[in-house]
Amino acid sequence: MDVYTKCSNYATDTCPCVLAERGQCVECSMCRGEDFCTCTDTVSFCIQQELINHGGRAKPQRQSMRCEVTYVKEMDDVFRFIRIRVPDPEAFIHLGAYVFVRRDENPFFDVPISVLYEDYSSGTIGLFIQMVGIKTECFRSIEKGDHIYVRGPYFNGMQGRGAVGHLRDGRAAVVCRGIGFMPSLHVIGALWRNHNEVDVYLDWGKSGRELLEFFKNLQEIHVTEVSLCDGKGELTEDFDRVVAKAEADGVGLIHLGLSDYLLKQAIGRIEETDPHHRKAISCINNSHICCGEGICGACTKDLGADHTVHLCKEQLDLYEYGRLL
Ligand code: FES
Repeated sequence: MDVYTKCSNYATDTCPCVLAERGQCVECSMCRGEDFCTCTDTVSFCIQQELINHGGRAKPQRQSMRCEVTYVKEMDDVFRFIRIRVPDPEAFIHLGAYVFVRRDENPFFDVPISVLYEDYSSGTIGLFIQMVGIKTECFRSIEKGDHIYVRGPYFNGMQGRGAVGHLRDGRAAVVCRGIGFMPSLHVIGALWRNHNEVDVYLDWGKSGRELLEFFKNLQEIHVTEVSLCDGKGELTEDFDRVVAKAEADGVGLIHLGLSDYLLKQAIGRIEETDPHHRKAISCINNSHICCGEGICGACTKDLGADHTVHLCKEQLDLYEYGRLL
C-alpha cells in the first residue's frame, strides 16, 4: 500500500531526532540513505542539513520535568482531573499535544495523556486520567501540591492536524462518544481560536453523564445529544443524519472522537457520501503509544513489506488511516 505520511515532529525544536541519527527518519529520504530527496517541505527546514549542522547527532530530546499539581478533582473511583504547572504552557497549544506523566521515579511508569487545554493565566495544563492499571493506579491518591514527572509535549495525539489547523472562519462538526470527548476538547479549542463555528454532537456512551457534563461546562460547550452506537456495536442512523446535516450546512471539517471500532465505520460512511474526499476529517489517535519516539514499535502498523507506520509520530491521510484500523 502506498500511503503518504508526515512526521508530527518535523521542524520542531527536537528535529532531527534519534531516528534521523540512525538512518530511520520517517520524513527524510536522504537521511534514510536513499538517492533522491522526496521532500515536500514548505517551511524551509531541511532535516539532512540540520543533522549535518549538529555533527550527525540528534538535537537534545524531551526530558522529564518535575511539575507541581495545582488542582485535583476526584471525578469518581476511576477518573481524576488534574491541573499541573508547566514551565511554558504555550508549548502545549499545538494540535494533538500529549504528554507522558508518572508519579514514580521509574520511567517505565510513563503513561501518555492528552492535553485537554492550557491556561496561560495560571501557567497550567489540564489532564484527565483514567486509572486502569499499574501505571495509573498511583494517581488515585494524588493531591494538590504533589509533584509528578512530565515529559513532552508530543504532537500526534490526533490524526488530521493539518486539516484542523487550516480551517479558519469556517464551520466544523465534532462528533464524540464517551471519553473520546476528552482529547477532542483541545481540537474544539483550536477551532474556536481560528474563529470557526463548531457544532458538537455527543453520545454519553458508557462514561458517566456527570463526568462529561463537568468537562462540557468547564469549557462552556453547547452539545447536541445523539446516540451513535446500537446494541450490536454498529453506528446508528444518527451518525448519518449528522453527516447529512454537516453537508447541508457547508461544514468544512468533521472531527471524530470515537473508539477505533466506530471510527473505522464512521470514516467508511463519510467516504460513501463523499467518494472524492472533498470533506476534511480528523480524529483522535487511539494507537497504543508506549515510547512516543518511534523506537519501541508498540504503535506500528505494517503497510506492506517495506513500509511500517509509527502512529506515535506519523500523520496519515484520514481515509487511509480508516483502512488501517
Ligand atoms: S510508541 Fe514506541 S514506536 Fe510508537
